[in-house]
Amino acid sequence: MNYMGLNEIREKFLSFFESKECLRLDSFSLVPKNDASLLLINSGMAPMKKWFTGAEVPPRKRVTTCQKCIRTPDIECVGKTARHGTFFEMLGNFSFGDYFKREAISWAWEFFTKVMEIPEDILWVTVYEEDDEARDIWVNEIGVNPERVVKMGKEDNFWEHGTGPCGPCSEIHVDRGVKYSCGKPDCKLGCDCDRFMEVWNLVFTQFDKDEDGNYNRLANPNIDTGMGLERLACVMQGVDNLFEVDTVQNTMKHISKFAGVNYKENENFLLP
Ligand code: SER
Repeated sequence: MNYMGLNEIREKFLSFFESKECLRLDSFSLVPKNDASLLLINSGMAPMKKWFTGAEVPPRKRVTTCQKCIRTPDIECVGKTARHGTFFEMLGNFSFGDYFKREAISWAWEFFTKVMEIPEDILWVTVYEEDDEARDIWVNEIGVNPERVVKMGKEDNFWEHGTGPCGPCSEIHVDRGVKYSCGKPDCKLGCDCDRFMEVWNLVFTQFDKDEDGNYNRLANPNIDTGMGLERLACVMQGVDNLFEVDTVQNTMKHISKFAGVNYKENENFLLP
């Protein structure tokens, strides 16, 4: 795995999915349009809800974007972990009733192992505990070691918001090594520390949940994937945290010069 700049990673991702016939779109505005449910855009799929629900027809059934995001539920973690930020960019590929689980999984693996050249032995996968189809694809079609494909419950591996389109998801995590571990004897995949970092979430939108809580299988299921660009950059650059990736450091160096304060010189320093 070779060092790669954040801008290069973004371009590699978007052109990889263009090669899979996805239409590349610019990031939508951070301010949602015609969506009173969100103050700020929090994921790649948020500005595309109208295409997922079928309220509007997408420009193509396959789309790829790098979306500007702010995710407020995690805001309390900013500054405490290596992997949470305020603003971040989310890389995504989306299918509106076109390709599904098999393609989403195999392209994610191809991108990680062939394009990014991330060694397979630092990758771990989670699947929803009832999603045997996804587990089977990971283990029997992709060939991932079954011990590295971990079943998780609804809280971790099921994406839903009230009623409407929803479904199981599969996350790809990178083991950053013992130096990032909390050191607890039970530290493993799913631990809150920075060792196993979730990088990519593949959501298989295959159900429509009704008012009575029934999950009805969709005739044309969708794909919604989201990957933190800065998290992937941490991995590709071997840096400790999101604030040390190349583009953020460039901004930080500039600010440090004006402020007369050097990064990491004094963690208790507060500007007057
Ligand atoms: N919607 C999912 C997420 O934000 C995948 O894009 O994690």
